[in-house]
Amino acid sequence: MSRLNAERVSLSFQRRGHSQVILDSFDLQIEKGTSVVVLGPSGCGKSSLLNVLAGFQPAHSGRVHIDGKTLEGPGGERGVVFQDDALMPWLDALDNVALGLRLRGLNKAQRHARALEVLELVGLASHAHHQVSELSGGQRQRLGLARALAVDPDFLLLDEPFGALDALTRERMQVLLLDVWKRTGKGLFLITHSVDEALFLATDLIVLDGPPARAVLRRRLPFARRYLGGEPVRSIKGDPAFAKLRQELLDVFLQEPADHAF
Ligand SMILES: Nc1ncnc2c1ncn2[C@@H]1O[C@H](COP(=O)(O)OP(=O)(O)O)[C@@H](O)[C@H]1O
Ligand SMILES: [Mg+2]
Repeated sequence: MSRLNAERVSLSFQRRGHSQVILDSFDLQIEKGTSVVVLGPSGCGKSSLLNVLAGFQPAHSGRVHIDGKTLEGPGGERGVVFQDDALMPWLDALDNVALGLRLRGLNKAQRHARALEVLELVGLASHAHHQVSELSGGQRQRLGLARALAVDPDFLLLDEPFGALDALTRERMQVLLLDVWKRTGKGLFLITHSVDEALFLATDLIVLDGPPARAVLRRRLPFARRYLGGEPVRSIKGDPAFAKLRQELLDVFLQEPADHAF
C-alpha cells in the first residue's frame, strides 16, 4: 500500500527581519485509500504543509517521500486542487483538463479521450465544450478536480477546495469527492475550515494549531467509510455520534484564543 510521507519537515519564513517557524519537525502520513483531513485556524500553517507535500515549497529540512522514494518538486503522483483554481478562461472545459496531459507524451486525440473520461468521473462530461466563464462555481471546482485527476495521481491534495461555494453546492461537492474517492481509491489530503466537512470527509482527522503547526488532536473517524458502504448522507450527519463529535471539536476551538477564531 502506497504512502505519502512528510518526515520531520521544517519550514521558516522571514518576516519583518525575524524568522517565523511554520513547520517544526512535522510528521504526517497519508496512506492510499485513506482520507486525511486537516482542520485548523487561519495562519497555523495548513497551506504551507500542503505546499511542502505537493513539492511547490521545498522544506528547509526533513523530506517528503512515497514509500522511501524522496520527492523533489511537484510530480504526477500528487494532484492538487485549490479553492480558486487557476483555470484557463480562453479554453473550454475539455482543453483545461487536456492541457495538463501535454507533457505526458499523449497525442491530441488521446489527451481528449482521457480528459473526457475524468470529466465523466466528476459529472461534467456534458459541459466539455463550455467555456470556463459559462460554468458555475461548483462546476469550476469539479473542473479543477478533473484536471487534478487527469494524470491519475495516487494522492489528491486539496486546499479548502469548497470554501467559496454556497452551502448546498458544498454538500454536493463533498459527496462527489467521496464518490470519486470510492471509485479511484486515491489517498486524500484535504484542508478545511468547516468542522462538519472535516467530520464527514475524514477517515483520519488532524486538528492543527500553530504556527508552528502542531497536531492538537488526531482521530480516526467512521463517517466517510459509512458513506462508501452505502449509508445515506442524511443518516450519517443525523447520527448523534456525529453531533457529539461536532460539539467536541467546537469545544477544542472555543478554547483557542480569540484571534484564532474561524
Ligand atoms: N511565502 C511566504 N512568505 C512569508 N510568510 C509566509 C509565506 N507563506 C505563508 N507565510 C506565513 O506562514 C504562516 C502560515 O501560513 P499558511 O500556511 O498559509 O496558513 P493557513 O493555510 O493555515 O492559513 C502565516 O503566518 C503566513 O503569513
Ligand atoms: Mg491556507
